[in-house]
Amino acid sequence: MALIVGLLGLLAGSVPAGEGSGTNPNDGYVGRTTCAGCHQEKARLHFDSPHRHTWKPVSALDDMPGLPQQASEGPIQHKVSKIDGKWSYTAQLPGRPAQVIPIHSIMGGERFGTSFILRAEEVEGRKLPSPALIEARFMIEAGTHRLKKSPGLFEGQPTSYDTALGRVLNPDFAGKCLGCHTGPVDVRLALAGGPHPQFGDVGVTCEQCHGPGADHVRAVENNEQNLGIVHPGKLSNPDLHKICSQCHSGFFSLVRPRPEDVLISNQVTALTSSECYIQSGAGLSCLDCHDPHSQAVEDDSVYEASCRNCHSAAVRTSTLCPVNPKDGCISCHMPANDQPGNFHLVDHWIRVVRR
Ligand code: HEC
Ligand code: HEC
Ligand code: HEC
Ligand code: HEC
Ligand code: HEC
Ligand code: HEC
Ligand code: HEC
Repeated sequence: MALIVGLLGLLAGSVPAGEGSGTNPNDGYVGRTTCAGCHQEKARLHFDSPHRHTWKPVSALDDMPGLPQQASEGPIQHKVSKIDGKWSYTAQLPGRPAQVIPIHSIMGGERFGTSFILRAEEVEGRKLPSPALIEARFMIEAGTHRLKKSPGLFEGQPTSYDTALGRVLNPDFAGKCLGCHTGPVDVRLALAGGPHPQFGDVGVTCEQCHGPGADHVRAVENNEQNLGIVHPGKLSNPDLHKICSQCHSGFFSLVRPRPEDVLISNQVTALTSSECYIQSGAGLSCLDCHDPHSQAVEDDSVYEASCRNCHSAAVRTSTLCPVNPKDGCISCHMPANDQPGNFHLVDHWIRVVRR
């Protein structure tokens, strides 16, 4: 019942006017297949990257190893399986009818795991006035491909389907959630059950970082001087960070974040809070350490080379470390968050971490 009340309250709120309303969101976009035709090397990298794979239609579950899967949380059963040819999420509270909700899409990848977005039309036999999107309580763990509890959801043991199924996404948050993980979306289309990424691109696309490409393709074809496309590598660091900020600035607009607030999807705020960034006059950016077309490298020594661009006896533009001026910088100054049940995110606020 609580869920139904929650959903009714939610659906009374209006769908945000944003993507998908008013002007045609396809305007000016050409889609990544077009880009790939001329930029084969960048496209090859990008096609294998976590950015590309971070959103998948439900049909991708057909090829996911280890499914179907089930798990329990105390007396509550959770299951991901194909029922009547449809991938579905089942939750069962003791003594209550099981709830079988179709999976709409899956989000995430192989770093931490994959979340299920469910599309509910009815709950406990009652038809909802209009469908709702729900982030399922259990997700697929990267590597093992087993079900595990998603971080950030209700901590206690659920006693109603409200929390047992997961987290009901209000249209605003659903839009952000999908918007960070795939191309411009129309939440109304998603709620209606349609394929929501527009112009056929799924995951984070070329044009989310480079802007719409139609002018560029025209400029290239007409041999124009002005290439008509954003080259982020030619921007100042603060302007470059605005591009990444669309999705790497967390869920809140934190002006003075506390260390624990800056961990989740918030690398831009974290990095730009570092004395390294401030006192060097915006002298470092994501590109010092990452190629956004590729997966992040796992070898810390690669990242430490970037620290030594400024903190080394040879350069001496900044202080040397009294503890270890040569290596090991990342594990001490950008440690991974090791709270149990959480994603092991690297803390991008470079500082002397005192615990
Ligand atoms: C018809 C071929 C063609 C297509 C399609 C195309 N590009 Fe280009 N692009 C070029 C050429 C040629 C250049 C200039 C030489 C170079 O940098 O490779 C260029 C340059 C660029 C640059 C560098 C701009 C600069 O200021 O130096 C970026 C970034 C870029 N393209 C991104 C894209 C993206 C994103 C797409 C898809 C939306 C795309 N391109 C589609 C041919 C193309
Ligand atoms: C997550 C953001 C992001 C995505 C997605 C992305 N790029 Fe880029 N791209 C960048 C950044 C940042 C740079 C500047 C740094 C660099 O050159 O790698 C760049 C540079 C480029 C350049 C200029 C390279 C040069 O050497 O001058 C081209 C061309 C390009 N990207 C094409 C593409 C194409 C094609 C896709 C999709 C298949 C794509 N990018 C997807 C962020 C992105
Ligand atoms: C439209 C949203 C969006 C934009 C814009 C974006 N990212 Fe991302 N980025 C994501 C998401 C979502 C993930 C998580 C992908 C996954 O693992 O499923 C991610 C993951 C990453 C990763 C980790 C890759 C790995 O190996 O796990 C790096 C590094 C990264 N982004 C850098 C950048 C940089 C640098 C920029 C700006 C040039 C940028 N991103 C722009 C959404 C975005
Ligand atoms: C502000 C942008 C943003 C929003 C909103 C967002 N995410 Fe993410 N998500 C990211 C980024 C960036 C990452 C990469 C890891 C990190 O930095 O947290 C990520 C990582 C993930 C991962 C792990 C990916 C992997 O490779 O293992 C999952 C699963 C995920 N998000 C699901 C969701 C779901 C479900 C929602 C909505 C309820 C959501 N995200 C909302 C940006 C976002
Ligand atoms: C000084 C180096 C450095 C800079 C600058 C940097 N990163 Fe990272 N980043 C790392 C390291 C180290 C990892 C962990 C890689 C691993 O071991 O898989 C990482 C991992 C990530 C991940 C994967 C999730 C996580 O947090 O562990 C994302 C997303 C990411 N970086 C985004 C960004 C963005 C966006 C920027 C720019 C605001 C940025 N990074 C700047 C070093 C850096
Ligand atoms: C663009 C140059 C630059 C880069 C790259 C850089 N730093 Fe810094 N860092 C600075 C400056 C400037 C300061 C402040 C003045 C000083 O300590 O010299 C600073 C300060 C620090 C401090 C003290 C922070 C505080 O809050 O007092 C630590 C710790 C640190 N850096 C570690 C690192 C590590 C680790 C890396 C690589 C992950 C790194 N820095 C990369 C320039 C840089
Ligand atoms: C074993 C952990 C460890 C390693 C490895 C390490 N540091 Fe440190 N670093 C510290 C601690 C602890 C402090 C604070 C020392 C103090 O306040 O007396 C510190 C201080 C610093 C400072 C501030 C110095 C000042 O006087 O303000 C900088 C800059 C720094 N480290 C950079 C680095 C860089 C760059 C690397 C890699 C080349 C590195 N550190 C490796 C633990 C480490």
